[in-house]
Amino acid sequence: MESIASIILAAGQGKRMKSSFPKALHPVAGSPMLSYSLELTKSLGIGKRIVVIGQHAEKIKKEISDIENEIIYAYQEKQLGTAHAVQQAEKYLVDFSGIILVLYTDVPLLKASTIQKLINCHKEHRASCTLLTANLEQPEGYGRIIRNQEGKISGIVEQRDLTKEQGLIKEINAGIYCFNSKELFAALKMVNKNNYQKEYYLTDVIKILLDKGYVATTVTVQDREEIMGINTRMDLSRVSCILYQRNAYEHMSNGVTIIDKNNTYIDNHVKIGQDTVIYPYSIITAGTEIGECCHIGPYSHIINSSIGRETRICSSNVEKSKIGNNTMIGPYAHIRPESIIGDDVRIGNYVEVKKTFIDKGSKVGHLTYLGDATLGKKVNIGAGTITCNFDGKKKNPTTIKDGVFIGSNNALVAPVTIDRNSYTAAGSTITENVPAGSLGIARSRQKNIIDWTEKKNKRETK
Ligand code: UD1
Ligand code: CA
Repeated sequence: MESIASIILAAGQGKRMKSSFPKALHPVAGSPMLSYSLELTKSLGIGKRIVVIGQHAEKIKKEISDIENEIIYAYQEKQLGTAHAVQQAEKYLVDFSGIILVLYTDVPLLKASTIQKLINCHKEHRASCTLLTANLEQPEGYGRIIRNQEGKISGIVEQRDLTKEQGLIKEINAGIYCFNSKELFAALKMVNKNNYQKEYYLTDVIKILLDKGYVATTVTVQDREEIMGINTRMDLSRVSCILYQRNAYEHMSNGVTIIDKNNTYIDNHVKIGQDTVIYPYSIITAGTEIGECCHIGPYSHIINSSIGRETRICSSNVEKSKIGNNTMIGPYAHIRPESIIGDDVRIGNYVEVKKTFIDKGSKVGHLTYLGDATLGKKVNIGAGTITCNFDGKKKNPTTIKDGVFIGSNNALVAPVTIDRNSYTAAGSTITENVPAGSLGIARSRQKNIIDWTEKKNKRETK
């Protein structure tokens, strides 16, 4: 089999995005834009994968190293155009002979099956270059495919270099190409920058190859969405919506109910079990796993968390935490990072939990803050309870053991331990440990002043 290498161009700043960080890192459905072409080339089993970076090179390398590390980075110091960018990869391919797949980083909807078609067509035609095209109703912004009288491709003209007549052409260059390595690098040396943008255009290579007598051919995609390029924030929004819809369809086809796919945002790399129902206005981010028969939403934001089965999360935020089975969260709860919530737990309205472990069967019903706390089994936390976990310098732990009942409106001043099966009285400020099986009460006694109202009224009428 002929070997394949890939070159992904990601050196551009993405001026049209009007952003202070690189286009390649803009998240699309929760993953950096560049990760899409990386995943694609990986899924095709391409061994040698080169990414051309320039602007914000270190930032890109760092962020991508979390996802992939078998990548060769080529550096393009000045962004002189797409042809110049490809040239920067040449030194990593001196011993290579075969097909070079060139992709741009801003086309995340592209499918592996389409690339496979492109590669197959390239081989069948023994072509020097095979590129992907599409017919668009609104072709503005893209390079247009020029064809001769026989209908064969004769070149590509960029938007800003179009003549009025060429402006009517609807067939566009998707920016995805297969080249023969030797012919590509020879042709690149002949590209000039005689164009409106004064850049070295990769698209000029097609005419150069044809002039040399080589074969250039095209594959036209039917699904136009697939080749949508992201150049502006408007494009970013359009492409993101399509990806969210794609993800929703995939989960639905796996047995998940999504009430309103247009108002549900599920990132890539999310797992959801069968018979789980996702209600509208829910956002589920990358890395999240949700078990079977859960109810998520409406209005829930689940960030990189793991949720068991038969659990309900209504109008709540869950961030980098683990939630057990048959647990109920919300409405209006906030589960902050590093929390572990067990099975059969109830967390109700206006409850904030941070870096806290809550064991099976415990209840935290209303208006509570638990930070750096450990709760045993079957603990009941009264309304309005807070852990005073911060002393101004450091965070301190609160330990509440199995079967404890914390009365309403308690302040638990950490570090403090409430031992097994104890009670604390409502309104207490607990500053000392409570031994097992005891009642901790820490509030002043009530005093009733009899006939106080009558005396007050008399004083006032004097
Ligand atoms: C390009 C194509 C156009 C095609 C469109 C498809 C050229 C000249 N034009 O236009 O025919 O219809 O894509 O989406 O190729 N880049 C570099 N270094 C550079 C310049 C660009 O690495 O010096 C990278 C960018 O980061 C980007 C890609 O190349 O990933 C394409 O550049 P962009 O400016 O987006 O090209 P378009 O104008 O969209
Ligand atoms: Ca582009």
